[in-house]
Amino acid sequence: MTKLHKSEWIIVIGLLVLSFVPCIGGIFRMIELQMDTALEFIPKNPRALSSPIPIEIHIMSSVLYCILGAFQFLPNIRGNYTKWHQLSGRLLVCAGILAALSGLWMTHFYSFPEGFPEKNKSVSSIVQIGRQRCLRKLTTSP
Ligand code: HEM
Repeated sequence: MTKLHKSEWIIVIGLLVLSFVPCIGGIFRMIELQMDTALEFIPKNPRALSSPIPIEIHIMSSVLYCILGAFQFLPNIRGNYTKWHQLSGRLLVCAGILAALSGLWMTHFYSFPEGFPEKNKSVSSIVQIGRQRCLRKLTTSP
């Protein structure tokens, strides 16, 4: 059993903490979609209910990406579990591509209400606000 250094614990815990909110939100959304009834304690997402497949792919791939990704940066794991590191790296690339493509697909094909996401405070809004700011920057810079 490999012991992690203090700095490695900080990296892995830091990355897992950052992933916590979107992952928990995504897991509840998945439960909602599997049960086919709206859960009261998460924000409503009519787009997910009417077209669940892209968001399901997005959630599963991004959760996998966040969790596996957190362990990829640890020198002890890289050195002592090389095969695991390589397999996880390959899975990560596929998960990352799926997360990005499904995100882009939803951005393009889901119909968002007027004023979204500024008025909406859901987990996805945080992703949306970032995306909108990047797009604004890209389209306004010369
Ligand atoms: C690893 C990074 C990412 C994570 C952890 C993540 C997580 C999530 C989660 C949990 C949801 C479900 C929100 C809900 O249930 O309402 C979601 C939705 C969504 N994400 Fe991501 N996402 C990531 C990256 C991206 C990227 C790069 C894009 C854009 C290219 C994107 C675009 C979207 C869109 C459009 C939705 C649907 C929003 C809605 O219908 O309200 N995501 N994301």
